[in-house]
Amino acid sequence: MIRTRLIATAASAPDQVITNDDLSKIVDTSDEWITQRTGIRERHISSGENTSVLVTDVASQLLHRASVSPENIDLIIVASVTPDYGTPSLACMVQKEIGAANAVAFDIVAACSGFMFALSIADKYIKSGVYKNAIVIGGETLSKIIDWKDRSTCVLFGDGAGGAYVERSEEAGIICEDIGSCGEQYDILTEGYVPCSNVFNEVPSGIHPEWYVHMDGREVFKFATKNVIKSMQKVMAEEGLTEADIKYIVPHQANVRIVEVISRKLNIPYGKFYMNMEQYGNTSSASIPIALNELNEKGLIARGDKIIMSGFGGGMTWGTMLIVW
Ligand code: COA
Repeated sequence: MIRTRLIATAASAPDQVITNDDLSKIVDTSDEWITQRTGIRERHISSGENTSVLVTDVASQLLHRASVSPENIDLIIVASVTPDYGTPSLACMVQKEIGAANAVAFDIVAACSGFMFALSIADKYIKSGVYKNAIVIGGETLSKIIDWKDRSTCVLFGDGAGGAYVERSEEAGIICEDIGSCGEQYDILTEGYVPCSNVFNEVPSGIHPEWYVHMDGREVFKFATKNVIKSMQKVMAEEGLTEADIKYIVPHQANVRIVEVISRKLNIPYGKFYMNMEQYGNTSSASIPIALNELNEKGLIARGDKIIMSGFGGGMTWGTMLIVW
């Protein structure tokens, strides 16, 4: 059977690290509150690098790690809610920077589920025989769409990018998935609103308040726990798996308390959930591939291991994937 196999992973983050104590100097918060409610201690924040810089770094590392020449890349998909431009896409910018002249390149938007959605699309192209390989990246500079005066959101997010080089394989790879959307609840997590302003309909100048991340934290918490649990159950049932068959679960790195609930309700040991949000915060579409890359770089996964990746985010959306490494 033809599968889509993850051959190499990579990640990139700005050098600048902002701790919870740093944030307590700009908003009324504390290391204790942030750590207890979220598990986050620090995050990488851009000193000017835009998203294209981070995603291009990931793509260059992937080429090197997979020993593939840029002209042999068929497909580049980048998931992001914080691209440099409306157009060109980040994927086209990556294409230019790495010299992948023969690739088809485009971006997708599925917020924090973005990497899962992008990987799902690449999988379909590869399984159907249209393309034989792809670079799939999630990358964000969320710091540019955060209201740094709003303590309820600014403590949660960070900047970064992560991705994978995937290839047609007959041995292992993506086994099954469950992706979904609930547009009904779109307004519980929004960012980047641009009002329709033109010469016939002028709106006040300056950044519209809805440009920034707005979130009903409690509703997002409920959405996440309910849908990730259902989605993981579905994927495991489809393959007849129990938790003993799974080496690691790589969840979206939003909040340790969400992961605690999922672990408890699914009766899966907490230690099987790989987390690094303590150092990165929530990097949206980058969070799962950054964590997966860390697992890989630490040598914690071996070929043949079964891994589940599961994310949720704006839209609202969710996505779960079972892979054989
Ligand atoms: N520092 C100190 N106090 C803060 C604070 C901060 N950074 N942010 C909020 N508070 C305060 C609130 O003002 C509120 O005070 P009040 O009781 O006097 O009104 C109190 O803390 C509790 O706020 P609440 O929003 O009810 O906290 P919570 O326990 O729900 O935790 C989140 C907030 C955001 C951490 C939690 O709801 C969450 O994790 N939601 C999911 C978010 C998520 O995953 N988003 C990513 C989606 S991809």
